[in-house]
Amino acid sequence: MRLQLCAWPEVEEYLKTRGEIIVPIGSTEQHGPTGLIGTDALTAEMVAEGVGAATGTLVGPVINVGMAVHHTQFPGTITLRPSTMIAYIQDYVNTLAGYGFQRFFFINGHGGNVATTNAAFYEIYAGYTATAGAGAQRSNRPEPRCTLANWWECDEVKSASRDMFGGREGSHATPSEVAMTWYKFPEHIKTAPLDPPLPPSGRFFGAADYRRRFADGRIGSDPSLATPEKGKRIYEAAVEGMIAAFKTFAAAA
Ligand code: NI
Repeated sequence: MRLQLCAWPEVEEYLKTRGEIIVPIGSTEQHGPTGLIGTDALTAEMVAEGVGAATGTLVGPVINVGMAVHHTQFPGTITLRPSTMIAYIQDYVNTLAGYGFQRFFFINGHGGNVATTNAAFYEIYAGYTATAGAGAQRSNRPEPRCTLANWWECDEVKSASRDMFGGREGSHATPSEVAMTWYKFPEHIKTAPLDPPLPPSGRFFGAADYRRRFADGRIGSDPSLATPEKGKRIYEAAVEGMIAAFKTFAAAA
């Protein structure tokens, strides 16, 4: 159930028995010469909708621009600064918490979001502490709980990826994520030369340094291995893994 396709009385009814919401969070950033710029938001959203459908849980609107400062030497990338993103996540969660949503399960499609999103969670919790000044968020409601789950890190996806892509998965513009978008959007499959076939891995600093080290945007990945069929398998593995993680989070005392 997508929140955006509900009317408010349905949300009111949902909140009589449920307090969970799934929040897909991604990015709008380059994914190499063949990967879609929306990859991280599109994959997070598809996995979130799969988990929402399987568990009868509301799915909030995707946060589709994330923390992508390091990708901004490639045209088309859009980024929030960490400070903007923290404020955005706080407002998103605090508004919903005001209606009674209690557990926020973020399904993430982008590694660059992790630090900022976790910082946002602590800004939210800080609003519920005795030292939070005016304590505008404080009320009789218990504080909300937020967690971030990276779909590509669950065992189900790791095992499927190892099986199909071995050491050519890499860490950015990976065949797993590219394949997932090609499964969902086959009309947008792209071909382009990938040279070298397997680019370097390693760390980086800012945007200029990233571009200098990873000329076509990929990090250690060979997305020429991506196909829609493999994308289906990765998608199903991600949904399975995220359902398990969601259930654990939702049931925790
Ligand atoms: Ni990505």
